[in-house]
Amino acid sequence: MAKERIAFSCTNCAYISGKWIGCCPSCSEWNSFVEQEPVVATARVASNAQRARLVSVDQIPSQAQERMLSGIKEWDRVLGGGILAGSFIILTGDPGIGKSTLLLQVAHSIAADNDVIYFSSEESLEQVKNRALRLNVHNKRLRFSDVANLETIIATAQHEKPALVILDSIQSCHLSAQSSVIPGTVAQLREASFHLMRLAKEHGIAILITGHITKEGEMAGPKVLEHMVDGVFYLQTEERWHTRILRSVKNRFGTINEVGFFEMQENGLAEVTNINQQFLNEASHSSGSALVCCVEGTRPLLLELQALVVESKFGIPQRVVTGIDPKRIVLIAAILEKYLHIRFSAHDIFFKVSGGFKIKESSADLGIALALLSSYFQRVLPAKSVAIGEVSLTGQIKAANQVAASIKEVEKFGLERLFVSKSQPVKTACQLFAFKSVYDLLELFPEE
Ligand code: TYD
Ligand code: MG
Repeated sequence: MAKERIAFSCTNCAYISGKWIGCCPSCSEWNSFVEQEPVVATARVASNAQRARLVSVDQIPSQAQERMLSGIKEWDRVLGGGILAGSFIILTGDPGIGKSTLLLQVAHSIAADNDVIYFSSEESLEQVKNRALRLNVHNKRLRFSDVANLETIIATAQHEKPALVILDSIQSCHLSAQSSVIPGTVAQLREASFHLMRLAKEHGIAILITGHITKEGEMAGPKVLEHMVDGVFYLQTEERWHTRILRSVKNRFGTINEVGFFEMQENGLAEVTNINQQFLNEASHSSGSALVCCVEGTRPLLLELQALVVESKFGIPQRVVTGIDPKRIVLIAAILEKYLHIRFSAHDIFFKVSGGFKIKESSADLGIALALLSSYFQRVLPAKSVAIGEVSLTGQIKAANQVAASIKEVEKFGLERLFVSKSQPVKTACQLFAFKSVYDLLELFPEE
């Protein structure tokens, strides 16, 4: 006998629970649980079911790994060298961030050599036209439709066989009324993605969908799709720089954490190729400031760290940190306190990464230590200097990974001094300051 089970799933992250829960244990979203379609546990598989054909590696036909280059370098690089034929990828970000704008520009460039269909289920064709006129998009091989029915979209794509299908957005598409799942739910989003994935793999059509992040949990967030797609790309904004950062969060065919920079202008998103120059122009040469070079994906970024260390007025010292995990600052301050007997625990620490960028890499540790010391001693670090290195709990300065690209970037921008670990193998024309432990850092702050 088939047996019905009731389950509840989170509309934000698809976490499944046997009972309704107020706050999702996986993504911490409130009131996001909805009842799922009852799961019918079917009887055993019939013994006469069709069997799969098994093949060895040599028998698998090799596919040409064709990539569609758009010529928009920031986009192509983040994608891992352009969109791979037959891949299924998602671009996500807040509403109004510029997803449709970016995709229209990409679609236009790719349509120079390929057929592209842009399904704009979210906006009418008039709205698409307005944007197209603004971006000067006129390619004949790029065609549009505003249908939102997924079956129609899939049937059209199967018939037309374009190289690339863009679906903007997945949340505004729906399956036919005959479908058993409720529109806008996780179940529907999953089913829709499943059909799209089959379309991509079976017909070799690259599919690029957009989705926006919803906070209320009313409509399923694109997070549930992350494990179904080949690549997940986020378009984020950085208010102060007016930049849009395109970031690869998952990429089966490239590196993750790759970043691309764009600027929203009157006629679309323009690439920002000299972001390091912009970061450097903003850098201040004063006490509490240290430059670091962090690699995001394959791209070295020159970032300024700023620390302000002041004596605490109250019992519990403040730690106000942006752009970096506050625990890292607390940890490095604790290491310096332990070995150098500097009482950071009696000081407030304000810390930021200039440019509003977020640093995850541990190669910034040495820079953090130097910025803290520089502010504490009120002494400016040597001009045109960059720190690359990790700090261990035992107070040792450790070598960082992937420094070759960073050093090339450091030299390219005319920086002259490099602070590294003694154990770091480096080849550079810069003046080297090599440190074994945090004790050695005090050499940079001699008593006057
Ligand atoms: P849009 O691509 O519609 O965002 P999303 O698809 O992520 O919701 O663009 C959002 C904003 O960009 C909108 O407020 C208008 C602005 N914009 C420009 O500044 N310049 C342009 O050339 C275009 C097309 C849009
Ligand atoms: Mg849009």
